[in-house]
Amino acid sequence: MDAGTLHLVAERLAKARRVVAITGAGVSAESGIRTFRDTMDGLWKEFDPQRLATPEAFERDPATVTRWYDHRRLGCLAADPNPGHLALARLEARLADAGLGFVLATQNVDRLHQRAGSRRVLELHGSIMEWRCTATGRKLVPDPSPMTRFPPPSPFAEGALLRPDVVWFGELLPMEVFAAAERASRACDVFLSVGTSSVVFPAAGLIRTAAAHGAYTVEINREETAASVWVDAALRGPSGEVLPRLLAAMGPG
Ligand code: OAD
Repeated sequence: MDAGTLHLVAERLAKARRVVAITGAGVSAESGIRTFRDTMDGLWKEFDPQRLATPEAFERDPATVTRWYDHRRLGCLAADPNPGHLALARLEARLADAGLGFVLATQNVDRLHQRAGSRRVLELHGSIMEWRCTATGRKLVPDPSPMTRFPPPSPFAEGALLRPDVVWFGELLPMEVFAAAERASRACDVFLSVGTSSVVFPAAGLIRTAAAHGAYTVEINREETAASVWVDAALRGPSGEVLPRLLAAMGPG
């Protein structure tokens, strides 16, 4: 990662009055959670996530889909926030202490940002830690132990099932959550895009909204992404290393 760019970005962040960060699976990779487009591990390697994370797959085979999601849920529970998550929580606290704004819009469903101490988190794609009734939409947080029945029956309506409260391919994002992320993106001075391939819309459009409204845009990623060609600055490296160094380069909060 280029030290000059790091200090340039740190200077911008230190002067910013409103910051938005969007995160993707890459920010949780160093917590041992596979990114969405990595090959799958172990018993799921023959499954394609793009095929399992759909309403059609759930309709066709709810037992397999819910078994896969419970496997992922338990993996997220067993994972710990990494220094990248912790640095974003520190950035939020630093800005809040100065009466300044920070919004974290995440595409991740693992709730590691909240466990790291982030407060203002917009879950654009829902959360694997909450499951909802297919008949009533009522939600619950299952026990942190393996589910025993697949598909899990809903306790809210006879014959109904529980499904993970995540956004599947082809489903709409929670519109009030996305609207809040758009409002923040329009108003921010600095927009950080961390650990996302920036290929899934509408989430991937937020950085363009920020840029169109004059924000300084920064990409933190191990490699090039669809957004790299036009961001103002790119910090290449694992977010668990880059983000703590960025916070340190900002100087005393
Ligand atoms: P992807 O798997 O598409 O992209 C992960 C990104 O993280 C890639 O750009 C990697 O280069 C980068 N990356 C990997 N390890 C990293 C690290 N240690 N530090 C920094 N970057 C790292 O995951 P997402 O972009 O999150 O949507 O995928 C977006 C959406 O696609 C997901 O939310 C999901 C999927 O469809 C839904 O489920 C609706």
